[in-house]
Parts: sequence; structure tokens; C-alpha cells
Amino acid sequence: MRRRLIAGNWKMNGSAASARALLQRLAEFADDSKDVVVFPPMPYLSLAIDGNASSRVGTGAQNCAAYEQGAYTGEVSASMIADLGARHVLVGHSERRALFAENDATVLAKVQQALAAKLTVYVCVGETLAQRRQDQQQTVVAEQLQALIAELPASAWSSIVVAYEPVWAIGTGETATPEQAQAMHAFIRSQLQQVSPDVAEQTRILYGGSVKAANAAELFSQPDIDGGLVGGASLDAEEFLAICHS
Ligand code: G3P
Repeated sequence: MRRRLIAGNWKMNGSAASARALLQRLAEFADDSKDVVVFPPMPYLSLAIDGNASSRVGTGAQNCAAYEQGAYTGEVSASMIADLGARHVLVGHSERRALFAENDATVLAKVQQALAAKLTVYVCVGETLAQRRQDQQQTVVAEQLQALIAELPASAWSSIVVAYEPVWAIGTGETATPEQAQAMHAFIRSQLQQVSPDVAEQTRILYGGSVKAANAAELFSQPDIDGGLVGGASLDAEEFLAICHS
């Protein structure tokens, strides 16, 4: 049985003060049947780790370097993220693929670095509106997963979460319908059969793209949706807690 997982991607938002206030409110989350993780901006990672130290909420970074260490100005390595005490990292978010030229090879390298640092890796996949309109969503997502399926050992997948985030639903309020999301989650799970039936069954697949308190319960009730990767709504404590309790 896969445990429900709700992750909050704060993106490049907030301040130390707002982060502290949000974390203080989230510390009251006590439902031990679910996992909750927040991904603050890098400068507030230590603040979040400290703020979550006595709560059930986990902490992760929104990105990591594709390299172990060295002359990569401005980058942050997976081992540094782990060294701080974070246990999770997002890789391959569509905003990084679009704005920072991350491709499937970059994503694989980052996943390998994160696994080497013993982080739980949330690999983001999803199609653009143009690709959806051409009914290419399965082709696109299969390609985004292929290098991972081909290159990673089956044992690696116990540390991987897949996040399906249709780009056209991110930040738009145009949430995928439960049927659309379930269809893609079932497809992703079928792709993971190439690794093994156990990996396909045990890997948690999150939906991301305009998840709100109003739509979370119906989305999360779908058989292959194991939780959500929440953006904007994760910055509002009450809204995010309502999603976590959905
Ligand atoms: O990583 C989650 C994010 O891309 C979803 O954003 O604001 O549509 O919930 P949002």
C-alpha cells in the first residue's frame, strides 16, 4: 500500500519571516498516515530543517547540481543538501526544463547525484499545452522517463517519487480533471513495469498543477494518484493544511 504524500513546492517565494510563520503552522500537522514535505527556496533550507525538526514535516531542496563538486559557480550539490539535513530534492521541474535548459540527460545526472547523496528524488515529468493538443502526452512523458528506466537499477526506485505535472495546469488554475490525471498516472505506472512489477506497484506518483483544497480530495481518490506536488497553494498554511487533510 502506497502512503499518501503531499509536497509543497514554494518556488522562488517568501522571506525568512514568512517561512518561519508557515512552518510554525504546518508543525501542527499530526496525521501520521500521510507524509508531508516542503521545498523552500535554497536560502531558507536550514531554517526549514530547523523549523521541521520537531514536526512530521520533511524538508527538501527544489533542485541540485548535476555534478558532485567543483568549479560550478552558483550550484549546490546533492551532498551539500544532505549535509544540511534535508532528505528530499526535486529534479527536472518543468520550469527548470523550460527556463534553464534542463533536458532528460541533465535530469538523469541530477537524479544519480541525488541518489548518491541518499536523498529521496522527486522526478517531475509532464507535457506542454501544445503537446496535449496534439495528443502527445504519453509519448512525451514516456521519453522523459526512458533514460531513468534504462539507466537506474531497480533498487534505486525505492528512493524515487514521480511527479506528473502537466505544464498547462501549472499556475494556471486549469487543473487536469481527475480522469485526465488518472489516465496519465496509470500510463506512468505502466511504464515503470519495464523496471519491475514491484517498482510499478510501489513507486508513488504525485499529481501537480493547480492543486487546491477544493479539488484535492477527488484527485487523490484516483487509484494511481498517491498525492500532490502543490505550488501556489502551499504558500498559504490553511490551504495547504486543508490539502494535506484531504
Ligand atoms: O511543483 C508544483 C508546481 O509546479 C505546481 O504549481 O501553483 O499550479 O500548484 P501550482
